[in-house]
Amino acid sequence: MDITSAFGPDFVWGVATSAYQIEGAVHEDGRTPSIWDTFASVPGAVDGGDTGDVACDHYHRWREDVGLLGTLGVDAYRFSVAWPRVIPGGSGPVNPPGLAFYDRLVDALLEAGIRPFVTLYHWDLPQILQDEGGWPRRDTAYRFADYATAVVEALGDRVTDWTTLNEPLCSSWHGHLQGVMAPGWRDLTAAVRASYHLHLGHGLATQAIRAAARRTPSIGIVNNLSPCEPATDSEEDHAAVVRADGHANRWWLDPITGRGYPQDMIDLYGVDLPIRPGDLEAIAAPLDYHGLNYYFRQVVTADPEGPVPYARQVEVPGAPVTAMGWEIYPDGLERLLLRLAREYGIERIYVTESGSAWPDPVGAEGELDDRERSAHLEGHVAACARAVAQGVPLAGYFAWSLLDNFEWAYGYDKRFGLVHVDYRTQARTIKSSGHRYAALIRDAKGAPVG
Ligand code: FCB
Repeated sequence: MDITSAFGPDFVWGVATSAYQIEGAVHEDGRTPSIWDTFASVPGAVDGGDTGDVACDHYHRWREDVGLLGTLGVDAYRFSVAWPRVIPGGSGPVNPPGLAFYDRLVDALLEAGIRPFVTLYHWDLPQILQDEGGWPRRDTAYRFADYATAVVEALGDRVTDWTTLNEPLCSSWHGHLQGVMAPGWRDLTAAVRASYHLHLGHGLATQAIRAAARRTPSIGIVNNLSPCEPATDSEEDHAAVVRADGHANRWWLDPITGRGYPQDMIDLYGVDLPIRPGDLEAIAAPLDYHGLNYYFRQVVTADPEGPVPYARQVEVPGAPVTAMGWEIYPDGLERLLLRLAREYGIERIYVTESGSAWPDPVGAEGELDDRERSAHLEGHVAACARAVAQGVPLAGYFAWSLLDNFEWAYGYDKRFGLVHVDYRTQARTIKSSGHRYAALIRDAKGAPVG
């Protein structure tokens, strides 16, 4: 099947980034520290001692980066707003210079004919709110809705596509349970409470966006999901899959689609959810779309002595992996898309992230011939095409990422960009995968539908 012919003319082709990973300028124009500034300063927390202090210097080079988006020919750009730039105190007064940055960016995108998809929270909680208890505390959900209002009041005359949260799983499990991301906690009770208040914040922010928007908004949440499979045919491994699926997928999909929290997982965690009347309805606020970030599947084996959910991911012998060690498995994307549409009845889906890290050596002539990334991209777009052919209401695809950037606890060593960044000079060079994506988009737009 020609992979481009499956997508109609309205299909949205984009690329994605996030604030802390690219902006730098952490002390400029009134920005205060986020939990990621704090976490990155802890010795040993981030590979190489890297921080987001400078990152891709996008805060100063945004015009050039909008130019790159134009060269790639994307329809849309998914980026996030940094809460500590907009409301440096976490709550309270808005910081006009911080907002002005996004104001300029949105104007430049629209001028270039590129649709802005704005994520409100991509992990950079103001440190000051962390000091007051962070996501395990209920108040943070209300502060998030206030911040959403401030951003939508400023940009909602031009922006219509909003995402509340990016990957609350990572904020909760990686940030509060495994401690490998900010704020670096290892506490199951805090992690479960954080997940609950993230969901509540999502629901309250959804209402806040609808109330403040001056143009009819399209609002969604972005979850990273993984299909789970048993390592063996044993009963124990099949039971482990149910737990792993609850931990990785159902916990994140059920409450926001009105099913409440999965009881088997509540029992497994053994943590009381701080539910108050009306919360579950707020959490299940109707959405216009669901965003799916997909990187890998999980093949799991029972691990009764291990941490929650007592299911351990194992390597698949002989399977191809990226520089992250993540298995390359495009069929997993097709399966997740089918599941969202069929099991959860979701009527509009965007793949909001899909991409891969590779070593990307620079050739003798300065060329960046990242064939692995092009193959990965094609494989995943083809998986989307198969899903669309089976009736999945997929409305767009965003490649992660526009630029090489600060890959959280892995620092700058792991490169995901379609565009190479030389961190010494901040020079940007489109990799062959970027050219491949541009060609693919052109083909898709020119292709006869069907
Ligand atoms: C996702 C994150 C994104 C990026 C990719 C590789 O989990 O949303 O910021 O780091 O992984």
